[in-house]
Amino acid sequence: MVKNFSRKSIAASLLMATSVMAAGTFASDKTEPRSEVYQNKFKQQYASWHATEESKDNTDLLAADPNLVVLWAGYGFAKDYRAPRGHMYAVTDVRATLRTGAPHAAGEGPMPMACWSCKSPDVPRVIEEQGEDGYFTGKWYKGGEEISNTIGCSDCHEKGTAKLRISRPFAERAFDTIGKPFDKASRNEKQSLVCSQCHVEYYFEKTEDRNGFVKFPWDDGTSVEAMENYYDNIHFADWTHKISKTPMLKAQHPGYETWSTSVHGVNNVSCVDCHMPKVTNAEGRKFTDHKVGNPFDRFEDTCARCHTQSKEFMVGQYEKGKAKVLELKAAAETQLVHAHFEAGAAWQAGATEAEMTPILEDIRHAQWRWDFSIASHGVYAHNPTEALRILGTAVDKAASARIKLAQLLAQKGVKQPVAIPDISTKAKAQAAIGLDMDQLNAEKEKFKQEVLPKWDAAAKKREATY
Ligand code: HEC
Ligand code: HEC
Ligand code: HEC
Ligand code: HEC
Repeated sequence: MVKNFSRKSIAASLLMATSVMAAGTFASDKTEPRSEVYQNKFKQQYASWHATEESKDNTDLLAADPNLVVLWAGYGFAKDYRAPRGHMYAVTDVRATLRTGAPHAAGEGPMPMACWSCKSPDVPRVIEEQGEDGYFTGKWYKGGEEISNTIGCSDCHEKGTAKLRISRPFAERAFDTIGKPFDKASRNEKQSLVCSQCHVEYYFEKTEDRNGFVKFPWDDGTSVEAMENYYDNIHFADWTHKISKTPMLKAQHPGYETWSTSVHGVNNVSCVDCHMPKVTNAEGRKFTDHKVGNPFDRFEDTCARCHTQSKEFMVGQYEKGKAKVLELKAAAETQLVHAHFEAGAAWQAGATEAEMTPILEDIRHAQWRWDFSIASHGVYAHNPTEALRILGTAVDKAASARIKLAQLLAQKGVKQPVAIPDISTKAKAQAAIGLDMDQLNAEKEKFKQEVLPKWDAAAKKREATY
């Protein structure tokens, strides 16, 4: 308390008091979390933002590719993993996924507070009210009553204005680290940096003064190798693989990183040029279309602004690139699935830590690279060449693990090839790695029925006082 009682904070609280008196509606002097407030003031921006609701499809990616269940065995992603959809669903989806579990009280896991960080303008609001320490302390359940509005105006804008801002201090620190401080950035750069508060690789820091804070692992650079090196040096692992016992890394969604080395990135074509084009309304007035979605749906306002080729041709090129990436992705997955089971067999045959360490390092690096190259979803469009390059190294490293495994298994007298259980469907793969899905689903249903109404009621009550 005393520590923070500086002249600055007195000034800030006075300011807050005056703005509350003047407007009578705002919770934080910097952040209005309720996008609805701007429904009339910024009609077109609001309406097009709201229209991200139309992108409803969130394909079950584990059902589409059961290999993923094995690759993420022992980690939450093996329970549930879906394609991204419109920004309007961010809070709905983080509440609904099996990954956030079914906590019924503040101390219950499995996830930390950090898991709310890219879902809502309530995140900067709470950080402004409680500091990052206050916000990041505790489990995900703690944020349930506070983080109630989906991604909205205040995530990207200064309160009540069109001015772009970085609303998260951890993102600001990361942009400073790579020499791109937001306040010195050009307009184009700012357009990409606002998206890159969330569409990046990140992890949860564990140091003396920052426990559970979100951090972008960019200290050594933003390439796949630089981040791998960074994680290795701090001996970081997201989890231990259930079958192979590898200390694993989970890539999140390095969209900014893979875009920045693409042809568009180096030419300063921003995320907004393709995903939020300037369009003209019925009265002939220009505005930014806030329906962040598939750029091909608005080809004339996006690609065609700079390219002369037809939509059919450009979509065709995109599909060809995507098919190549998917082919190499599948090859990497097959190698990795085998490597995990072979490593499991080696442990069972009595392999030692010393024998396994170089093998597990290959598996760790191979899977990190595989994951990095595809986790941002848009990579097929953004930078297929980089995805192919990284996937090539993933296949190479997985093969290196398997050569070492073949020798070790032979030494231990294990019959090869090592058998793989039936993982031909999501359900079979989940059973093979020992997940009790009936129980997990039942617990989640109970959570939805009992906890979510309480969260919603508490949020409503709080906002009624703004
Ligand atoms: C994901 C980030 C993001 C969100 C969310 C967002 N905006 Fe924007 N907004 C932008 C960007 C980027 C621009 C274009 C800035 C530029 O032209 O350099 C913009 C431009 C604007 C402008 C300037 C006029 C125009 O149309 O170009 C207004 C006004 C505006 N937004 C209002 C809103 C309102 C109201 C909301 C919430 C309903 C909102 N924005 C949500 C990123 C966002
Ligand atoms: C506050 C964090 C945040 C910011 C800022 C943000 N996004 Fe997102 N974005 C997300 C999340 C979370 C999802 C997934 C939502 C879901 O599936 O529930 C998403 C989904 C998307 C999708 C998929 C949409 C669909 O319909 O399939 C695209 C494309 C996208 N974002 C692009 C952008 C661009 C471009 C910007 C900057 C103008 C941006 N995002 C800013 C967090 C953010
Ligand atoms: C603001 C301008 C702009 C927009 C919008 C834009 N591009 Fe580009 N695009 C460029 C520039 C600049 C280059 C590099 C051209 C060069 O080096 O000759 C490029 C290059 C490309 C290339 C060649 C890539 C390579 O590896 O050589 C493809 C493919 C492409 N764009 C597809 C698209 C698609 C698809 C869209 C819409 C989703 C799009 N572009 C939107 C400016 C743009
Ligand atoms: C040259 C145009 C272009 C630029 C620049 C661009 N994107 Fe994309 N992006 C696309 C296209 C095309 C797709 C594929 C759309 C699809 O199939 O849904 C896509 C897909 C995505 C997706 C996955 C959507 C999904 O539903 O799977 C996300 C997320 C995304 N982009 C975010 C970003 C971010 C963040 C940036 C800036 C760092 C960015 N994009 C820059 C053209 C672009």
